[in-house]
Amino acid sequence: MKESTNKKILFSGVKPTGRPHIGNYFGAMKQFVDLEKSGENLCYFMIADYHALNLIQNASEMRENILGVALDYLAIGLDPKKSIIFKQSDVSAHTELAWIFDSITTMPYLMRAHAFKDAEAKNKEINVGTFNYPMLMAADILLYDTDIVPVGQDQKQHVEISRDTAEKFNRTFCKEGDGKQVFKLPEPIILGDVAVVPGIDGQKMSKSYGNTIPLFASYEEIKKAVMGIVTDSSAGIPKNVYAIHKLFRTESELAKIYKENEGKYKALKEALIEDIEAFIKPLREKRAELEKNKDYVLEVLRDGGKSAKEVADKKMEEVKRSIGVNL
Ligand code: AMP
Ligand code: TRP
Repeated sequence: MKESTNKKILFSGVKPTGRPHIGNYFGAMKQFVDLEKSGENLCYFMIADYHALNLIQNASEMRENILGVALDYLAIGLDPKKSIIFKQSDVSAHTELAWIFDSITTMPYLMRAHAFKDAEAKNKEINVGTFNYPMLMAADILLYDTDIVPVGQDQKQHVEISRDTAEKFNRTFCKEGDGKQVFKLPEPIILGDVAVVPGIDGQKMSKSYGNTIPLFASYEEIKKAVMGIVTDSSAGIPKNVYAIHKLFRTESELAKIYKENEGKYKALKEALIEDIEAFIKPLREKRAELEKNKDYVLEVLRDGGKSAKEVADKKMEEVKRSIGVNL
């Protein structure tokens, strides 16, 4: 696949669990576009369908969601001529390598993962896939000799687990001979100022809290969400409105708007609605256009899957040699 001369290898993924929101965009997906545009990276953007299987257990919903992420990727401006866009389940090396990682990782280590601890705290009946989630994610990242992983703050620990797993594998299996390490250690990239985008209730924006503004929202949806932002009347500035507004305008522009409309929460919300609409409209239109051309989208995934598989299968040969299952 394409020239790789001294470009950094970038890998990231999104789970097909439903509509993305502006937290996903500003926390992670926007970086995908910026980092692709810079031309300095060879990028892989994956649809993490197997990672979604612990939540989405309905075939037609899964299909729709997978296609949805592909549309999202293309609509925000990722370019399949520059990057490899593919779905996880098309490259079986991911699950194969995850098994190998399962075998060198201890239960107590994985029990320290935030996602597992959260699920446990909620007293859920946790499935094995949720427990092993970080091992599949480590396989995703490590198969491609990834240098950088742009993600939101909540995925930082998963990238650290991937690093630990790479080190553990290298330590266990690469001590003989010339000391060549099979896996490279990846670095997370997290945008500091928007590491956590707040939702309309001031908590972290999240599908599971029902406090989102969808990334491809209609005008009506934007209006409804913004009007629903919880305001406190402590200072003249409604904190939660401002926190979201900050994503769309500079602080100096906001200073002016918020000064002119001090205490006028409705006017401030209306200004925010217009700013969000101006930003979302072109994305929404591009996505609707792509939606009419499903064959093209499927072709992008097919080509991406082929390219990813070539690289991943080659890495698996190296892995199999290191652990001694090749004869
Ligand atoms: P998810 O939908 O949870 O798979 O998230 C996809 C990506 O969006 C991940 O990199 C998350 O870290 C990021 N993300 C999700 N919610 C937020 C948020 N409220 N603020 C910033 N980033 C987020
Ligand atoms: N776990 C990530 C999330 O919930 C999605 C994901 C799967 C991912 N594999 C990945 C992100 C590899 C970065 C790299 O958002």
